[in-house]
Amino acid sequence: MQADSLSAVRQAFVVHPTREVGGELRVPGDKSISHRAALLGAVAEGTSTVKGFLLGDDCLATAAAVRALGVELTVDGGDLQVQGVGLDGLQAPEGPLDLENSGTGMRLLAGLLASQPFASVLTGDESLRRRPMERVAKPLRAMGAEVVTRSGTAPIRIHGRYPLQGLDYTLPVASAQLKSALLLAGLRARGRTIVRSPGRSRDHTERLLRSMGVTVESGLGEEVSVSAPKRLDPIKTEIPGDFSSAAFFLVAGLLAASRELLIRNVGVNPTRSGLLNIVEAMGGRVETRARRIIEGEPVADILVSRSELRGIEVPPELVPLAIDEFPVLFVAAACARGTTVIRGAEELRYKESDRLGVMAEGLRRLGIGVIENTDGLVIEGGELHGGRLDAQGDHRIAMAFAIAGAAAREPIEILGTDQVSTSFPDFERIAASCGLGIETTTVGESV
Ligand code: S3P
Repeated sequence: MQADSLSAVRQAFVVHPTREVGGELRVPGDKSISHRAALLGAVAEGTSTVKGFLLGDDCLATAAAVRALGVELTVDGGDLQVQGVGLDGLQAPEGPLDLENSGTGMRLLAGLLASQPFASVLTGDESLRRRPMERVAKPLRAMGAEVVTRSGTAPIRIHGRYPLQGLDYTLPVASAQLKSALLLAGLRARGRTIVRSPGRSRDHTERLLRSMGVTVESGLGEEVSVSAPKRLDPIKTEIPGDFSSAAFFLVAGLLAASRELLIRNVGVNPTRSGLLNIVEAMGGRVETRARRIIEGEPVADILVSRSELRGIEVPPELVPLAIDEFPVLFVAAACARGTTVIRGAEELRYKESDRLGVMAEGLRRLGIGVIENTDGLVIEGGELHGGRLDAQGDHRIAMAFAIAGAAAREPIEILGTDQVSTSFPDFERIAASCGLGIETTTVGESV
């Protein structure tokens, strides 16, 4: 159980059933790109200016860590400005860097700090301090950095080394965080750093580095490599809406729209938008419109209509391309006709919570038949009842059950929704704007 599950006062959502979803909305900026813009802007030469920076707690924690490394960084609304200090301009922080709830912030920063010839400590909240960090520590050690974890988890102590030694490394899992950490370390390594992956994963780091003048080679299969550039050009970009945030409304539209729902300006990078393929195979009516490229990232408007969904076997190769969307996809599966089978998704156990375990338990409480396997779930579509459940301090679980509440027969009460602001600070307001009925309350006990 997490610390916030034990604390006296927690935020909760009470969600009322509705079939009146529709209209038009926008979601806040992409979390993955926001982290990368702050971190890479810090080591660029010159001023980076970025619009659409996500004001979620996770990205603000990364921004604070960048400042603690001696970089001038300002966030004004969604406008981020970073006075880059160059690849060798970071300064030793005075105390531990607290990444709060953010796995991306911690793992990418570990990659960046591995080549800095000073000592730093990366720590986080109780959830982050339970997540696996040896997977990033091990290859960084092989590149020459001193990296010490506490039994495989944070706090991580890093004493960087310059230059690092390039490495040819095969990742144990298709993880963009690990791939990105090694590419960032590779920016200050002798020789090439080659990262091979067992599957495709989000490629925002590669795209951003290319836009900064770095040659990132992609080989046959899932393999990328870099060698140390002389410098990084500053970033000038506009971050699109986060597909992972849009996904909640996309599913809400499929389950509960009375008229079309248009989600404008969403990043639809194919390494992120696997959910589109999955819901289309389930019979979901989703259209992408006005496709365009903004500073190297594909962007579109997404039009959703209410649909009769059917259960499918989700192709395992789509799992890393929809990794953050599974909580809400499980809700869609719970409302589909027939059985949905998800395999090859064990990584979900290592997110902000054990997303297989927590979602299986929550859906069962709402009357849905779920079989939990080590690497996935088998969900028997049915009718969602009302009930009370616990998001276990996981932002995406809280929002997924909020969407379940729209499609359920009776209200659903979700405890432990405080962390929604880590990725989606304005969730309740935007949800209300498209017809979802979410009340925010506080409760003084745990289920
Ligand atoms: C992210 C990669 C994914 C994802 C996370 C963000 C990133 O994690 O779940 O929310 O920005 O690189 P893994 O790389 O661990 O799969």
